[in-house]
Parts: sequence; structure tokens; C-alpha cells
Amino acid sequence: PTARLTIDPHFTIGPVNRRVFGGFVEHLGRHVYDGIHEPTHPTADADGFRADVVELVKELGVSTIRYPGGNFVSGFRWEDSVGPREERPRRLDLAWHSTETNEVGLHEFASWLDKVDSELMLAVNLGTRGTLEALDLLEYSNIAGGTALSQRRIENGRTDAFGVKMWCLGNEMDGPWQLGHRSAEDYGKLASRTAKAMRQLDPSIELVVCGSSSAHMPTFGEWERVVLSHTYEDVDYISCHAYYEEKDGDLGSFLASAVDMDRFIETVVATADHVKAVLGSEKTVDISFDEWNVWYLSRFQNVDRIEGLDNWPIAPRLLEDVYSVADAVVFGNLMISLVKHADRVTSASLAQLVNVIAPIMTEPGGPAWRQTTFFPFSITSRLAQGEALELKLDAPTYETKEYGEVPLVDAVATHDAETGRTAVFLVNRSQDEPLTLIVDIATLGDLSVLESHTLADDDVYARNTLAEPERVAPRSNDSVRIDGGELTVTLPPVSWTAISLG
Ligand code: AHR
Repeated sequence: PTARLTIDPHFTIGPVNRRVFGGFVEHLGRHVYDGIHEPTHPTADADGFRADVVELVKELGVSTIRYPGGNFVSGFRWEDSVGPREERPRRLDLAWHSTETNEVGLHEFASWLDKVDSELMLAVNLGTRGTLEALDLLEYSNIAGGTALSQRRIENGRTDAFGVKMWCLGNEMDGPWQLGHRSAEDYGKLASRTAKAMRQLDPSIELVVCGSSSAHMPTFGEWERVVLSHTYEDVDYISCHAYYEEKDGDLGSFLASAVDMDRFIETVVATADHVKAVLGSEKTVDISFDEWNVWYLSRFQNVDRIEGLDNWPIAPRLLEDVYSVADAVVFGNLMISLVKHADRVTSASLAQLVNVIAPIMTEPGGPAWRQTTFFPFSITSRLAQGEALELKLDAPTYETKEYGEVPLVDAVATHDAETGRTAVFLVNRSQDEPLTLIVDIATLGDLSVLESHTLADDDVYARNTLAEPERVAPRSNDSVRIDGGELTVTLPPVSWTAISLG
């Protein structure tokens, strides 16, 4: 089959905010302990952080990193994680039925962020705690000195304020599994009170209120409307969370997961704008898509449960999904969806970063390696610069069980007026046929191909593992041709492609 695409740099959606390429580190499984922090590892630095992991996180190109949860944050007492290490308490982590040693806390994590060149985004606990504790953490983090809590930070070794700009008002408060889960009405009131108080302390912060844990929650839509009607003037973002997986061998629907993400984003935008209209507000609330990924949640629920009153392991192997080529194609397509909505999705966090549903895996004492999903993230983060462009796409369709008739191809492009570079990101969802794509690039002027990358494999379930860590990697796409204002490229079945022009 053949598809046609027109790219015109005049038709812009909005600037691609760097914060869209954010990550997420939760105290969960082997993410922090035995993931980023392993003092006995041969590459560990003086602070106990693995240098091989630092290098991979830098290569991944992650902007903001959300911390410390996730479900974990709803039982977290931040004070436990600061001060002399030997005095820090061990606590039960009810979210993941584990023991939290607090060996790595706010100071250590901030120093790790300096190593990986990322910005800190903090979540406050609105599950088992409230406004006062959120204010305390904000004072500890953002006040330069001269108060009890800022002084405590200085005594704990950090002279300068952390200067945290992005704050999440709790986590997934719509989810019955969440500690302190409450109704939209109750959460909306608490989030509004807390947001107002936090802004009284530091008006420069940006606040994210919890949206739905998924577009398939029974309260989806109404949750957003009620929560925003309480908090609209107090917050900058509403969050979206979404995880996708192949179910019952239905690869066709799975490959179209980004259709669901598109609809999710557009529905939340419509709901936020509805509240804006009702309130007659001047401001616009954006989306922080602060958890997204492929996650084989159904497998996790059945297999990985830890139970028992005397069984609270430290850093157990949890949620260690091993990603295939097909997973990476879907993952790359989810990134296309985020960039396509650059006007309203101005922050996002890939959940998560190391070992736990992660693009980077590690073995204790052993190597660190890239999962298949690493590649679409690192390449998109590096090449998607400037403005996202509105494209005209004419592609054949196929029928899916979950989403009806969907296009075989999905695409987005970005254009950077400063460098004159254009990047285009593509997927072919066909399971058996290569697709020829003809792209009209006449309005872009005289261009050549700077780089091209295609992720595909004869075995769509091929994976990178400890035994074979480099089994899957993208290759340059040698089919790309430019001739008389037209670019032609062949997209293999089940593939993700990025092309940079300049
Ligand atoms: O990312 C894993 C978990 O997924 C997070 O802790 C939670 O917020 C979501 O349900």
C-alpha cells in the first residue's frame, strides 16, 4: 500500500515543550535501590550512584523527572528521607508491600538529577497527609534560609534551595487502590486548599492536579469536570495517565493504542475548556501526561503479588517488563500522539526510567542495557525541536476490535525555524506489508536527509535481555529518497521511523 503526507512549516500546532520528554522515578521495586543506586557496583560513584546508568539516562534525553511516586507518595513522609542516613527510619511501603529504607531521599535524588542534567518535579502526599505537610516540604525545598525548615535543609548539607518549580497535588486520587482515595468532590476541595496555600508560600510554582488514572476509569470525564470546577484558578495542569498492553493476542488493536491516547487527550482538553467556559475564566489549563507507557498490567496483577504480615522485602523485582519490537513501535506512536498535541500537552513523564516498566535495565553487580523502547524515546527527544506541525495524511485504514477503523500510518513532524531542521516521526501499523509513503516537502525548500532511523524486525516479539542486550536496535532507513520536492520512504511492517531533514 501507499500513503501520502504533506508537511508545511506554516501550519503549526504549537512549540514542543522540552518538559514533554520527562521521566518518572518512583520508590518501587528495583528502581532506586539496585537500579540508579548501588554503592557496591563497579561503576558506582562516591554517592553510590551507578555511572553506567547515569550515562544511559543522559543518552535517553530526559528533561523533568517526577519523584518519588506514584502510589508510593500517598504513604510517604518526606521528613523520613532527609537528615543523617543512620537515623532515617525504615518504613512499610503499603503501595508496593515493601520496606522503604530511606537510604536515598530528597538530597541524594537531587544530586543524582544534577548528574543526569534533569529537572526535579515533586509530588506531595495528599493521600494520608494534607496541606500542612505539603507546605512544610515546599518551605524545606524552596525557601533560601532563615526559617526552621530551610535551616534544617542547610544543616542537612544543602545551602541553596532546591528551587522546585513543578508540583503534583497527590497521585491518582481517583483510584480505589490509592491510599487515601477520595471522591472528586473531596479531592477537588483538598487540592484547591493545598494549591492556594502552596502559592501563598511560593507564587512561582506550577501545579498539577490529578486527573484520571486512565480514560477507562468509571469516573473518567466527570472526575475532571468536578475536580477542575474546584481547582481551575489554582492549577496550571491536569494530569493524564495511560498504560497500554497487547491483550488476548490482538496485535492490531494494540498497534492502534495511540488512537486511544489521542481521544483521551482531546476529551480532557474539551472538559477543561468546558469548565473554563462555565467559570468565564481567562486562563487555560494544560495537560501534564505524567504517566504513560506500555505496561503488561494484567500479567503483573496475576503473578507479582507480594503478601503477608511478615513479608516486606527491600527492592523486590517488581514490574520488570521486557519490551518487544512491537511494544517499542506502540511506544514511539504514543510519543507521536504527545507531540501532535503540543499546544495542550506541555508536560509529560514516561513511567518509568530504570528496571520498573523501564527503558533501562540493570543487573546487580552486572551490566545496564537499553530496552527496545529506549530508542524511540532518545531519538524523538533529540530530534523533535521547534514547532509541532499539523500534517495532511492520506493513508489506507484497517479494522480493529478496540477502536474500529484506524489509519495504517500515524505521523507527526516538527520544524525548527532557527536551525532550519525538520523531523518527521512515522509508524506503519500493518502486520504483514511494507508501506510506501510519499511526503510532499516542497514548501520546506531544498533539503537533504541528515539522519534516518527505523525500528523493525522480522520477529516483532524480539527483545533485548541480559543474555542478548543488543538484539534489537534501530537501523538507518536506506530507502529514503528526495526528488523534486517529494520524499519517498518505505516503512516495514510493524515499524517506527524518524527522519531528520536539513
Ligand atoms: O507507574 C506505576 C504505577 O502506576 C504508579 O505508581 C501509579 O501512579 C500508577 O498506577
